[in-house]
Amino acid sequence: MPIDRARLKDRLAEELRRFEATHPRSRALFERAKASLLGGVPMNWMVRWAGAFPIFVADAEGAHFTDVDGHRYLDLCLGDTGAMTGHSPPPSVSAIEDRSRRGITFMLPTEDAVWVGEELARRFGLPFWQTTLTATDANRFAIRLARHVTKRPKILVFHWCYHGTVDETFVTLREGRVASRDGNLGPPVDPAVTTRVVEFNDVPALERELAHGDVACVLAEPVMTNIGIVHPEPGFHAALREATRRTGTLLVIDETHTICAGPGGCTRTLGLAPDILTIGKPLAGGVPAAVYGLSAEVAERIRAATPIETADTGGIGGTLAGNALSLAAMRATLESVLTETAYARTIPLAGRFADGVAGVIAEHRLPWHVARLGCRAEYWFRAAPPRNGAEAAAAIDPELDRYMHLSALNRGILMTPFHNMALIAPQTTEEDIDFHTRVFRESVEALLA
Ligand SMILES: Cc1ncc(COP(=O)(O)O)c(C=O)c1O
Repeated sequence: MPIDRARLKDRLAEELRRFEATHPRSRALFERAKASLLGGVPMNWMVRWAGAFPIFVADAEGAHFTDVDGHRYLDLCLGDTGAMTGHSPPPSVSAIEDRSRRGITFMLPTEDAVWVGEELARRFGLPFWQTTLTATDANRFAIRLARHVTKRPKILVFHWCYHGTVDETFVTLREGRVASRDGNLGPPVDPAVTTRVVEFNDVPALERELAHGDVACVLAEPVMTNIGIVHPEPGFHAALREATRRTGTLLVIDETHTICAGPGGCTRTLGLAPDILTIGKPLAGGVPAAVYGLSAEVAERIRAATPIETADTGGIGGTLAGNALSLAAMRATLESVLTETAYARTIPLAGRFADGVAGVIAEHRLPWHVARLGCRAEYWFRAAPPRNGAEAAAAIDPELDRYMHLSALNRGILMTPFHNMALIAPQTTEEDIDFHTRVFRESVEALLA
């Protein structure tokens, strides 16, 4: 059944009024913050929530948080994967408490770093690891290293990708041409100069672009997640690996979001063999930490091309990268939180989320569908799964998105902004999932009534 746009507008206005009436303290903090924080928020994207202002958080534990107005929410956003472990997981918190009493940062390694390197090698199959503070940095450094060892200037990414605030990746295809992405602020160089872009799942385009012989690396999520979930078609990854090897191009797989697929990300579930792997966000239970892993061959090429005398001037690393606190938190999180047992709980719960939403969609014969990857699930305002970024982007309906988000928020559920995505934490319960299904039904039925 199609959505009546006039009704949608009315319902959205109603939800906005309800939101404003029930969040006076968040509103007051936002007004106050405008005097000291640009835009009233500590980070610019925090203005992009469905309400007229962001809700301010008071406390969180596990899969729930409370705002300053005293409302309790089921958190299906989980800091856009940063809190995929659930909020303040006890093993990570104990390690953080313990480490922070014994020194936080040294510019020297701790034993935890060795444990973390060994565990990452076991999970992802790459033997050598380095740490950073953000996945953005992991990607930046991976690109620099790839350029350095291949002596090639460009990189290749997929249309509508997101890999953090990495200059080379702020590109898009516009009428078939590579162009700077809308909103890209002060690019140091036109990213069309640095980057080739093709559609995900388009093997002929990939082969055509790699044939130029000037691409240092392909940087890819194994399953696209940031324009919504776009799965690779059968054979796509094999073709990607074959084409990169054949053309001497390194393959960088970014598992920052796709760690939702399992403890070894899609690299393990899909049997991938990247030259470099990057991942950040939930690795340290919410404390800033990210890593990149290198194949033995790439590590050797880097070693051969980076003399020790200039190890500090290569344009990679950072004073606080590899700090003891992040590594202690990472060790505890990998050892006791992001475990096989946790995924054995969260993946079926995401299945339950998807089934619940799909049931309501089918009942009301809406031209929507639900996509899933491990413990991540999302609903789409199009009937069939998209094959690539362009198809995914064309399905975005900002007004409908805003209504669904706000309707959920007013009923006690935080969805991930920018799309209709739910991430499941180890502490999420079946009752939480069924609560979402009821709220989803209520939101949909209010639109159709
Ligand atoms: C796939 C992917 N890689 C990297 C990043 C960057 O992570 P961060 O913002 O923590 O640096 C993101 C952020 O959303 C991401 O989705």
